[in-house]
Amino acid sequence: MNIHDPAAELRANVAQPFEQARAMPISVYTSESFQALEQDHVFAKSWLCAGRADALKVPGDYLTMEIAGEPVLVLRDRDGGLRAMSNVCRHRMSVLLEGRGNTRVITCPYHAWTYGLDGALRGAPAMDMNKSFCKEANGLPAIRCTDWNGWIMVTLNPDLPEPQDQLAEVDDLVGYLDMSRYVETFREDHLWDTNWKILAENFMESYHLPMCHGATIGGAVDLRRMTCPEGKAGFNYHHILKDDSIALSIAHKDNMTLQGEDRYRTWLMAIYPSLLITLTPGYFWYLCLSPAGPGQVRIVYGGGLHPDFAADPEAETHFATLKGLLDHVNDEDRGCTERVWRGMQGRLANPGPLSHLERPNYEFARWIASRMPEAL
Ligand code: FES
Ligand SMILES: [Fe+2]
Repeated sequence: MNIHDPAAELRANVAQPFEQARAMPISVYTSESFQALEQDHVFAKSWLCAGRADALKVPGDYLTMEIAGEPVLVLRDRDGGLRAMSNVCRHRMSVLLEGRGNTRVITCPYHAWTYGLDGALRGAPAMDMNKSFCKEANGLPAIRCTDWNGWIMVTLNPDLPEPQDQLAEVDDLVGYLDMSRYVETFREDHLWDTNWKILAENFMESYHLPMCHGATIGGAVDLRRMTCPEGKAGFNYHHILKDDSIALSIAHKDNMTLQGEDRYRTWLMAIYPSLLITLTPGYFWYLCLSPAGPGQVRIVYGGGLHPDFAADPEAETHFATLKGLLDHVNDEDRGCTERVWRGMQGRLANPGPLSHLERPNYEFARWIASRMPEAL
């Protein structure tokens, strides 16, 4: 094996059976060349989440993102549909919109070419003397985009099956909670100093809850009541039963539909590559990750309430309680994941063996390995 080939190191790592699994090789996290492979073979080829569909409520609401370096614009069009398109001007290629907002038209900040919400070019000042110029030929290229259970899913890949087909097993597991009905109450952007996979892996295992989250949710979790099954083709998951010590994490008292343990069960799903969802009968929260170099990760962090709680007259109190808790938990995760990034820079760092509670991490490593091209 060529020790300078992170993909080959990873293939050797995941060739071990789970009973002998170790954390992924360090180079998979730190190498620029592996990061470039991930951009081309993971992020440019997968369904990625741009957040919740209810973040784009009315026509003209938009948000921007980058997929493997590609500037992308997602908006609610005049007919109420979701659309994604290139966020690059067809004139001299300026990026068009930044951040989030609402707009009636998309006007380039450079020379004021103007596009409709359907991406068609509507106006271009002083272009009538160029004989090759054709308005109709200069619309913004469309990008695949769909609403899957309330999630905005976007991909640069024309060949992927629709998310509802590719991720049908998610519905088999958590369809009874109907994610599409949850109401988003916050959405924030963050940048952390760690590799995106360290954060994804942190999310996938609840082994760290008692220690890393000892000051918040750790006490409500019993490692013996945690179930970590084998992963599915497009995602991994585990679930835990929580007691009633945490506000909102169990079913609303007036909810008569959920029975038995379903009232207490929290699901943690990692939709490959980078949509991480915690779903409880009372609330949900999520992270959408994109790498910003090996040592930094861009994060969309959002969440909200099950409709039972959103409709409760005390919804604002519920929300404040929830947000305070989640922020604290997230800070704890930031500490843990940034320490892993720092730790693995050391000469004595070495990937150690995985617990049976880290089965999802093993599944994730195998999925990443399966995306990589064969050795050149
Ligand atoms: S680059 Fe957009 S109008 Fe010139
Ligand atoms: Fe955590």
